[in-house]
Amino acid sequence: MGPAAVSRATGPFAALRFVPCGFEAALRRGARVRAERGVDASTIDRDAGGGNGRDEPVALVVGLCYESRRPTMTTLNDIARALVAPGKGILAADESFPTIAKRFASVGVESTEQTRRTYRTMMFSTAGIAEYISGVILFDETLRQEMPDGCPIPKALSAAGILPGIKVDKGAKPLAGFPGEKVTEGLDGLRDRLKEYSDLGAKFAKWRAVIAIGSGLPTAFCIEANAHALARYAALCQEAGLVPIVEPEVLMDGDHDIDRCDEVTRATLHEVFGALFRHRVDLEGMLLKPNMVLPGKDCPKKASVQEVAERTVAALRACVPAAVPGIVFLSGGQSDEEATAHLDAMNRLGPHPWELSFSYGRALQQPALKTWAGDDTRIEAAQRAFHHRARMNSAARYGRYDVSMERDAPAVG
Ligand code: 13P
Repeated sequence: MGPAAVSRATGPFAALRFVPCGFEAALRRGARVRAERGVDASTIDRDAGGGNGRDEPVALVVGLCYESRRPTMTTLNDIARALVAPGKGILAADESFPTIAKRFASVGVESTEQTRRTYRTMMFSTAGIAEYISGVILFDETLRQEMPDGCPIPKALSAAGILPGIKVDKGAKPLAGFPGEKVTEGLDGLRDRLKEYSDLGAKFAKWRAVIAIGSGLPTAFCIEANAHALARYAALCQEAGLVPIVEPEVLMDGDHDIDRCDEVTRATLHEVFGALFRHRVDLEGMLLKPNMVLPGKDCPKKASVQEVAERTVAALRACVPAAVPGIVFLSGGQSDEEATAHLDAMNRLGPHPWELSFSYGRALQQPALKTWAGDDTRIEAAQRAFHHRARMNSAARYGRYDVSMERDAPAVG
């Protein structure tokens, strides 16, 4: 990389130099960026411009620029790594009012402030759950609620060794001019909301974008618009000291085959990581929450567990820089056992450059929801069902899950 390709940074980074065209390669060497931290910036400037024989000046310079702009980086990286600690994953319990109402309706429960609190605190207070669950994504209402003993929920989670997180997007809304496509809203006023969430104890955040596959869909513009919003959100989170979970979900709805999902997932991830770079998001202080590469729900040709695992890992290896500490999948409508088996098969294909973990909503909660079904005398049984699913997914984190372990599952309902 010669000096001709080097452009000067301005403002607070005037002492450093960027080499934009080397960034992709630099990102893949994320581990080295980490290893080189702490080198004096003036040395780096000289090295990068002149190319003094150091073997990775580009990675070094990019990494340090980001470091200097993010004084909280050590904390962000620590939080991100804690969320993907060995054997642990995230519980997504951040359903919006309409979504939780739909889930409750499926078991005949009315969604009220009280039923939502009872159901969610039941999961949070399950004995031994912190062995498998590193963090919980909460909805705004839940972050402000209390456990039955009066302790604020974020405080109770932290005391149990579980990191509280918060969904901060305001939902996917129709993208004007693009029939059938959506863009996620919620950037207006986000800086102030993040400050408040941080004061309430949140350590990380989530923003979900949805990409639909269909005839002529997705459009490149829809992917771009969502990637831009995800990157704006992620940069604001890091500024506020919160780890952003970046969730671009390619939906399972439709009859498309696994090849089409693969293609759209790769295009989406490329766009998202391009946007994250342009927005100067520190990849070491974030997590990616993607879909797995799967055939559409109505596709007649099903894929084996092994095929899903191989296709998903191949797509991620092609598109996700090694600097990202962890990838935490959504379940997206898979059955709970499928979601566990897929994660397990992927971890058996390791080692990978990033941790491969879970951030499941339905695939962790479904048996517990059905067991509880609004009957508070069934809370302990529902907690056993929740504990079991969390334990199965923890085994999948190590590639040690076997379907025979499901025999220990408590009877549902
Ligand atoms: P599912 O696992 O049910 O897809 O939910 C995960 C999530 O948080 C979606 O935003």
